[in-house]
Parts: sequence; C-alpha cells; structure tokens
Amino acid sequence: MRARIAVLGGDGIGPEVAREGAAALRAVAARFGHEFELTEALVGGAAIDATGAPLPPETLALCRASAAILFGAIGGPRWGPAAPVRPEQGLLALRKELGLFANLRPVTVDPRLAHASPLKAELLVGVDLVVVRELTGGIYFGEKRRTETTAFDACTYSVEEVERVVRVAGRLARGRRRKITSVDKANVLETSRLWRAVAERVVRAEFPDCTLEHQLVDSCAMQLVRRPADFDVVVTENMFGDILTDEASVLAGSIGLLPSASLGAGTLGLYEPIHGSAPDIAGQGVADPYGTIMSVAMLLRHSLGLEAEARAVEAAVGAAIGAGVLTPDLGGTARTAEAGAAVAEAVRRSRV
Ligand code: NAD
Ligand code: IPM
Ligand code: MN
Repeated sequence: MRARIAVLGGDGIGPEVAREGAAALRAVAARFGHEFELTEALVGGAAIDATGAPLPPETLALCRASAAILFGAIGGPRWGPAAPVRPEQGLLALRKELGLFANLRPVTVDPRLAHASPLKAELLVGVDLVVVRELTGGIYFGEKRRTETTAFDACTYSVEEVERVVRVAGRLARGRRRKITSVDKANVLETSRLWRAVAERVVRAEFPDCTLEHQLVDSCAMQLVRRPADFDVVVTENMFGDILTDEASVLAGSIGLLPSASLGAGTLGLYEPIHGSAPDIAGQGVADPYGTIMSVAMLLRHSLGLEAEARAVEAAVGAAIGAGVLTPDLGGTARTAEAGAAVAEAVRRSRV
C-alpha cells in the first residue's frame, strides 16, 4: 500500500516521541512492503515561532491531503496560558477543521508494568477499557468572553453531536464486552441531561444487544480507581473525557503509555499519545515513546485498514516491555531512542 502520512512533532517531548512513532512506521513499511510517504510539518509553539500561527495553512493543507496524521504534543511555558496566541489552539483547530469528533483512548494494563502504578496490583487485573471522548463540541468550542471582572465559557451540545459519538461507542462495544457507560453531570448541567437522554435513546434503539449504564462524572472518577476492571466502553463529553483519561493513565502505570485515535466520518484520523509536551523532561531524551507508538498501531488499524500490521506493532511494544526496555517513568533507565529502536527491531523481525 502507498499512503501519505503527516508527521507533526510539535513542542517539548512531542518531536522526541513522534520520531520514534515515525521509526515504527518505517519498520512496518520495510517488513510488510508498504510505501509510506512521511512528511513533517509545523504545529503548536514551533509554528507560532516560525509563522505567527499555531496551525499554519500549509500544515492544515498537508493534513487534508494525507491518509493519516501522526501527532506528538504541543504547548509549553513559553507560550501561555496568558499569551494571545497559544499552541493548544493549533491542535483544537486541527480537530475541528478535520471533523475529528470521536477520540478513542484505550487503557489496558500490562501485568509486567503493574509495579509502575501506585494502585494495588490486584485492582489492575483484567483492566481493559476504552474511553470514547467527544472531541469537537462542549465547553472547549463554545463562545468565550472576557471583561475586566467576568469570564464566560459556553458549553453547548446538539442532539446530532451526541448521537454520532454514542454510535461510535456502540459500534466499539459490539466488538468488545458490549457494556457502555455514559458519563455526565446530569444532576447539574442541561447539556448533560440532553446527553443522557440521547445516549439512552440511541443505545436502546440501535444497540439493544449492549447494556447501558449512566454514571455521574464525580462518581465515575472514583470508580475508575476503585473497580477499573468493570469498565468496558466509556462515552463522555469533551472535558470530562480529557480529565478522566489522565486519571485512567495511572492504571496503566504512566501517562506516557496511553495512545489515542481521533476519528471523523471518513478514514482520515489523527493519532497522538494522550500526554502533553512534558516541559519538565523535554530535551533530556528520556520521554516514554510507547504511547505514541501504540498510537501508530491505531493509525494502521483505523486509517489504513492494516490490522496485521497494527497487531505487529502492538506485539513489538509488548516484546520491548518484556525485554525490560523501560524508560524512567516505568522504573527503568532506557532512553527514548533505545525504546523506539527496540520496537522497530521487533517489528522488522515479526512473523505474522
Ligand atoms: P504533560 O502530559 O505534558 O505532563 C504531565 C506529567 O507527565 C509530567 O511530569 C511529564 O513529565 C509526564 N509525562 C508526560 N508524558 C510523558 C512521557 N511520554 N514519558 C514520561 N513522562 C511523561 O502535562 P502538563 O505538564 O500539564 O502540560 C504541559 C503542556 O502540554 C501544556 O502546555 C499543555 O497544554 C500541553 N498538553 C498538550 C497535549 C497535546 O499536545 N495533546 C496534551 C496535554 C497537555
Ligand atoms: C489532550 C490535551 C488537549 C485537550 C489540550 C492540549 C488542548 O489535554 O489532548 O488531552 O484538552 O484536549
Ligand atoms: Mn488532556
């Protein structure tokens, strides 16, 4: 297969982990006989410094002309949060412009990494959940206003916005344990009451083979660390999904391990680890690249339809972990490049 893939490294550890993601893609191309044309472009703070804008028109055009986007991370103390133009606006604009409304964030626990989590190992047995985070609506994209003495962020959701993301959750649940948990704050928010009613109707009518339970977000935050193995598919609005998935990364052992796929109506998708630019470790060469590489597996699966290749990448990450190639966040001493090389090597040797 021939495919053009945009590589947007971004800021801080973003380029460091994106480099290892790109190396995994090259290893897949070599092993399975594909031609991936990887093209780098500016985004975030790096783009602000070079062009004044966090999402330059050339970058957006490249993304539109690509089959998929591999994204590192953006942001950093040099650009905000009080700055008039901020790196985060580039990522949000990219998601919105490309219509990537569903953000899949899977969370599994490799028992060999249970030591990296502060939670008791027995709680982590069998954890296998995926959060489907709505990505282009809610408070992130509502009207914003500021005066001397007040600030205003509107949170809105339409029926259609909720329906389409709940359908993504339903389709995912069918390939899994058929258990959907919809998370809201329906005891306080009008948008959540709409969310709950639509989730209820869509699942009953279109996914009657799945169970649906509703949880309030505060209680869900508690249950996620109390009985994480009970969750299968969690579907929730933009900001709740952002917060709950950083929390859920503690189950896996490090935020550096969690991948994501941002999907829309077509096959174009954006793939990125859920973490940020980690200014505290940027430039040291010690960032964990496994979340980015697992995002590459999601890219192969969801945008390119290459299931065997996706599994080969996932198995290669497992092999690297099994061989003890662990970055400091996982209790090891491996450097980012060593971890990336271990995966690329395992991909090249893989037999499927
Ligand atoms: P962060 O996710 O960057 O870092 C939180 C903590 O996790 C830090 O201690 C960091 O060192 C650690 N960490 C993160 N990724 C790691 C990895 N791969 N390996 C090892 N350790 C890792 O969150 P933050 O510090 O709150 O945010 C920093 C900047 O990143 C902010 O500007 C924020 O807006 C931005 N951000 C961007 C994205 C994105 O690009 N998608 C996501 C989250 C935050
Ligand atoms: C994420 C990040 C982004 C978000 C920021 C950087 C805009 O935290 O991808 O999880 O809040 O969506
Ligand atoms: Mn986040």
